[in-house]
Amino acid sequence: TAPSGKYADRFGGQLVLVTGAGSGIGRATAYAFAESGARVIAVDRDAEGAARTAEMSRLLGAPDAWAETVDVSDEQAMEKLADKVATAYGVVDVLVNNAGIGLSGSFFDTTPEDWKKVLDVNLWGVIHGCRLFGRQMAERGQGGHIVNTASAAAYQPSKALPAYSTSKAAVLMLSECLRAELAGQGIGVSAICPGFVNTNITSTARFAGVDGEEEKRRQKRTARLYGLRNYPPEKVADAILRAVVRDEAVVPVTPEARGAHLMS
Ligand code: NAI
Repeated sequence: TAPSGKYADRFGGQLVLVTGAGSGIGRATAYAFAESGARVIAVDRDAEGAARTAEMSRLLGAPDAWAETVDVSDEQAMEKLADKVATAYGVVDVLVNNAGIGLSGSFFDTTPEDWKKVLDVNLWGVIHGCRLFGRQMAERGQGGHIVNTASAAAYQPSKALPAYSTSKAAVLMLSECLRAELAGQGIGVSAICPGFVNTNITSTARFAGVDGEEEKRRQKRTARLYGLRNYPPEKVADAILRAVVRDEAVVPVTPEARGAHLMS
């Protein structure tokens, strides 16, 4: 099928790698790039989820779509992935570091193991992706774009999400620093900051030390307050493609994320 996405001309034939592509925002992003004719590599630690995304991406128009099962927090596995991709498919044009895990619980209820787990995936996963694929882009010298999924939590303090919010604040700053560093090389870096989006992360996150039911009720109240219970991941995917096309630096997505960003 011919590319049907609205950015078809912009992404046709480009190589796009999305992490956390087995579900939610990552999956929707893989589909959006697939509809624009990109060659999509769907990376997730969940093999089945990644495979399903790749299969559907092919049906949506990606001339080629592959699935790779990798844990983004595993440095060696990421190095292997970067080598394999470079050898088998070429240099990635667009990298979307999107894999992430949720964790809520007050500061004193969050154990050092919990901190490590969330920083390993949410921050180190992004660092590995940027180092490995960003270097390949820079060495090739033909530009490219890196998108990191941060969160509105990056600039919106919350006593319920200290570890998660800290990991996302770090991703936001990392993105801005790298953007400055790569500015002269035609490589853009964007930080996407969604608020509450309806995905697995918001329905099945592990709740450390707080009553899971109470936390779910809190999230539902927040969602209701902003009328966001049904904010779909597809709209975040759309913001991601737009951020690449327009080379946007920090992109708050969802109404309350935009509101909080203006106040921060
Ligand atoms: P999700 O849970 O539906 O998707 C996350 C995906 O990442 C899953 O497929 C999971 O298997 C994968 N993943 C987790 N750890 C991984 C690892 N170590 N290596 C490889 N893959 C891994 O959740 P969602 O909402 O789609 O999350 C995507 C990103 O968006 C995350 O970084 C999240 O923090 C961020 N985000 C989500 C918001 C929301 O309200 N849903 C709001 C703001 C940011």
